[in-house]
Amino acid sequence: TWNEAVAREIIATHHDREGAMLPMLHAIQEEFGYIPREAEPVIAEALNLSRAEVHGVITFYHDFRREPAGRHVLKICRAEACQSMGSEANAHRLLERLGLDWGGTTADGRITIEAVYCLGLCATAPSALLDGEPVGRLDAASLESLAMEAA
Ligand code: FES
Repeated sequence: TWNEAVAREIIATHHDREGAMLPMLHAIQEEFGYIPREAEPVIAEALNLSRAEVHGVITFYHDFRREPAGRHVLKICRAEACQSMGSEANAHRLLERLGLDWGGTTADGRITIEAVYCLGLCATAPSALLDGEPVGRLDAASLESLAMEAA
């Protein structure tokens, strides 16, 4: 849960670094699991930027989550080697089945589906990470069971 005092401490730690915003955002996400909306004005104030500028950076980078993640996180690769092996169609089928968009979490908080752009696992494309564990050669069916069976 959001804790402004903790956030301020994190922000102060990174404040004097060159390009402080990204390390700040990464540290905040590490602490809270996502970037709480409440963090935006605090970061903006610390860096003398507008809230819109901070918001722009958060939405630009795929790494930053704007909602808490589900109990499981499935990161599906959308880069070229995986695409050429059909990853997009498989992923869309899964997202449709779950009723989610990229970055979305099921209503029961069970799983979040995120996009990544090359995991360095091109040799086993299409690849994904389930809770940090690499999984390769995913066809539509195995991707779906991976996502549906994570309890
Ligand atoms: Fe998917 Fe490299 S393109 S792992």
